[in-house]
Amino acid sequence: MAKLEGKVALITGAAVGLGEGIAEVYAKYGAKMCMVDLSPEVEKTADRLRKEYGADIITYVGNVADKAQMKEAAAKTAEKFGEISVCCCNAGVCRLAPFEEFTDEMRDFHIDVNIKGVWNTCQAVIPYMLQQGGGNIVIASSVTGDIVADAGEAAYAMTKAALVGLTKCLAVEYATRNIRVNCTQLGYARTPMVEKMAVESNPEDPESAIRDIAVGVPMKRLAKPTEVGELFAFLGSDESSYLTGSQIVIDGGSTLPETMSIGTN
Ligand SMILES: NC(=O)c1ccc[n+]([C@@H]2O[C@H](COP(=O)([O-])OP(=O)(O)OC[C@H]3O[C@@H](n4cnc5c(N)ncnc54)[C@H](O)[C@@H]3O)[C@@H](O)[C@H]2O)c1
Repeated sequence: MAKLEGKVALITGAAVGLGEGIAEVYAKYGAKMCMVDLSPEVEKTADRLRKEYGADIITYVGNVADKAQMKEAAAKTAEKFGEISVCCCNAGVCRLAPFEEFTDEMRDFHIDVNIKGVWNTCQAVIPYMLQQGGGNIVIASSVTGDIVADAGEAAYAMTKAALVGLTKCLAVEYATRNIRVNCTQLGYARTPMVEKMAVESNPEDPESAIRDIAVGVPMKRLAKPTEVGELFAFLGSDESSYLTGSQIVIDGGSTLPETMSIGTN
């Protein structure tokens, strides 16, 4: 039996990037899904996965920052598939700016999507999980904020670190009610978000900014979205049944080196 057969997953930010990679791996392992995204492009991605994997998928175009929309997305998922067994809180945003120039509007945009978006999504799905006797939440945090940071990432780092706290609290609060909550801490994967960050970092030569990310990673490459999807699949499956409140780093070793100059290779 495939790892996620019989599971129903709600995945946010599923049109492109990591969310698309997560949805692809979930489709491969037999999950039914509701793919949620701000962009109507999510329907095109879902259609590819239906064709390639025969996956049973509905889509919902909506904003994670809007609590009513997330409640509607959860209700439509439960109505179509009878339950919500896994929720992947993946949607997130990142904009770079020097701290002294960071506007309050841009700060609040990160808080609204990255923190309140995950909060709203969890509040929307948990009542169904309680009703059905359990469930599983996987939250996309980052190595940024909790472990490392680059200049210009103040709002992003602050909001991604906050998700570690939310993960731990929800894990404790729902442990006896059979809802597990874990978060992933990714280094870098090549996605539209990272391509945009590369343009903000080096408008003349964004490709060199991407190449330079790989230089600092011991494995000398960025993650593929489906490699991150495999971790989300493990955390969303019964194989990870004793894991809750964990923060799992997936970064090709990028947070390990003490220097870029000392060593024998
Ligand atoms: N790519 C990386 O290297 C990296 C590293 C660490 C963590 N992450 C995290 O992984 C998640 C996905 O990142 P990505 O690189 O795929 O981003 P991306 O920008 O490439 O894709 C994000 C997707 O989320 C959707 N989205 C954005 N705001 C939304 C909203 N308010 N409501 C619903 N959907 C929304 C977008 O339309 C898009 O489809 C984010 O939470 C990000 O912080 C990414």
